[in-house]
Amino acid sequence: MYNSKIIGLGKYLPEQVVTNNDLTALMDTSDEWIQERTGIQERRWVKPRDGDTTSMMGVKAARQAIDRAGIDKDDIDFIIFATLSPDYYFPGPGVQVQKELDIKTVGALDIRNQCSGFIYAISVADNFIKTGMYKNILVIGSELHSHGLDKTTRGRGVTVIFGDGAGAAILSREEDNNKGLLSTHLHSQGEHAEELSLIAPGMGKRWVNDILTDNDPDDVSYYPHMNGQFVFKNAVVRFSEVIMEGLQTNGLGPQDIDMLIPHQANLRISQFVQKKFKLGNDQIYNNIMRYGNTTAASVPIALCEAWEEGKIKEGDTVVLAAFGSGFTWGSAIIKW
Ligand code: ACO
Repeated sequence: MYNSKIIGLGKYLPEQVVTNNDLTALMDTSDEWIQERTGIQERRWVKPRDGDTTSMMGVKAARQAIDRAGIDKDDIDFIIFATLSPDYYFPGPGVQVQKELDIKTVGALDIRNQCSGFIYAISVADNFIKTGMYKNILVIGSELHSHGLDKTTRGRGVTVIFGDGAGAAILSREEDNNKGLLSTHLHSQGEHAEELSLIAPGMGKRWVNDILTDNDPDDVSYYPHMNGQFVFKNAVVRFSEVIMEGLQTNGLGPQDIDMLIPHQANLRISQFVQKKFKLGNDQIYNNIMRYGNTTAASVPIALCEAWEEGKIKEGDTVVLAAFGSGFTWGSAIIKW
């Protein structure tokens, strides 16, 4: 059995900055409300039709990760792409990355576990590498929310939170079993699927034809729905549980965390977890203030930035954790 190790990280954020004040031109909200509830000051939203799509942002992040890993695109044995906002209903963006990067005909897998998508994706990659099946896997988390949000006062409870962007990592075979990904932990609770969901158009409850036939201006079924307070309450519990599960599996405690990279759901959730585990400001990384919640992209973007800023060093214990729609949640414990 091998271990897997992250040998390259990349990210891409669209240029257009949308501040909280910019949103006040679209809806009844305020910088004060948004910052107080979420910590968000600004987010990036792609400029419509300038070429940035979920798959293309993923490609840009991937190019940087491949470059930094010092490998060639032809060394990649497998592609895993996590998103809830694919360019097409089908096929998923994994194959678009394969085409754009002109990677040979390796397998491409699409993961749809929303905010936990990147943790699920690296868990799958880790296990492919552990068994010896693949040596280098490109893992991408990318999200384009802005085209699918209700940018009116009606949608303000959700819309102010989300941003666009992409992050990528190259996971590679590591012979030393004490290095790299030590363990990953995945969970779900489908009974709460609709508390944070986008149900239409789908093949289940509400089809495209229903939407077209009804032509109802009050229809919000094709916008994301979030029971904010319920999500918040579950998030703080599940984040804490799954971080502890990961630490205990490896005989570690919160005091051993050198860097916690939580999914950037809401700064108040991260602060709750920080306080619970008595972590100093240098033991947790947050960038939601600048990018909002980028769902499957948030963990790889934050991990990439923390690494770029020299906040992650060889030998550090790095913990990744996420919670989101599904509900799904997970953690990864890494010896860097
Ligand atoms: N600007 C101004 N007022 C607003 C806005 C806004 N953007 N959004 C909602 N309001 C109003 C509501 O209409 C309501 O008004 P009312 O009292 O007159 O009815 C009031 O503010 C309070 O609304 P709540 O929804 O109860 O606000 P809450 O304090 O719960 O904050 C929030 C909302 C920020 C979404 C919070 O519930 C939260 O963070 N939940 C966690 C969910 C989360 O993190 N989601 C991220 C995505 S999921 C994930 O990644 C885990």
